Amino acid sequence: MAAKTVPKVEYPIRRAAFILSAVRPEQFPAADRPEVAFAGRSNVGKSSLLNKLLLRRRLARTSRTPGRTQTINFFDVNGEMYFVDLPGYGYAKVPQAIQAAWGPMVEGYLAALRDLRTVVVLVDIRRDPGGEEKDLMAWLDQRGARPLIVVTKADKVSRSKQRGRAEAIGRALGTLETPIIFSAVSGQGREEILGELLTVCGLEKN
Ligand code: GTP
Ligand code: MG
Repeated sequence: MAAKTVPKVEYPIRRAAFILSAVRPEQFPAADRPEVAFAGRSNVGKSSLLNKLLLRRRLARTSRTPGRTQTINFFDVNGEMYFVDLPGYGYAKVPQAIQAAWGPMVEGYLAALRDLRTVVVLVDIRRDPGGEEKDLMAWLDQRGARPLIVVTKADKVSRSKQRGRAEAIGRALGTLETPIIFSAVSGQGREEILGELLTVCGLEKN
């Protein structure tokens, strides 16, 4: 099967900056531009994906220990969109208080009247989506938020297995499109994801 050709994305990252961390809607920055949020299990690679898209190594903090991101973090991209790094769910070792806060915190974000164009839902390429991923998808659907499924850590499986895994994950989540295959290590998939995000934000340059 021929690989999908991905057009080169012309979108220089002139400015990528952390704006603020929030736990409640009153703390969010003004909803004055399109935004994209990154959601998924703890440790799946949300912050790593955000950094790779913005070509910054340590803008969003990452960690081998799950539960690194515990607040809703807003990043400005070229003054024209926000990337929103959400805390991860579903990791038992995260303190109970933080686990209990996750639902209301993220629900508060999704319920806020923001210019949210898509929620990037990340799933580890080695894992079958569990109840939490399915709940998240149902929840996004209820909110009318459009998901963009990305399978992460593609470098952890052989090239020949990647597409099959991506298709299986997509099917398990009930989506028709094959999820985008991404690796923060190799950068595979970056252009395709960025292209999608620019399109939904109305920022693609022709
Ligand atoms: P929380 O903030 O805890 O919810 O985690 P997160 O989803 O933001 O994950 P993070 O980006 O911090 O990455 C977690 C770990 O996975 C780190 O050790 C990363 O280096 C590693 N990681 C992330 N993406 C990839 C990838 O594509 N390939 C490999 N091999 N490792 C990755
Ligand atoms: Mg994180």
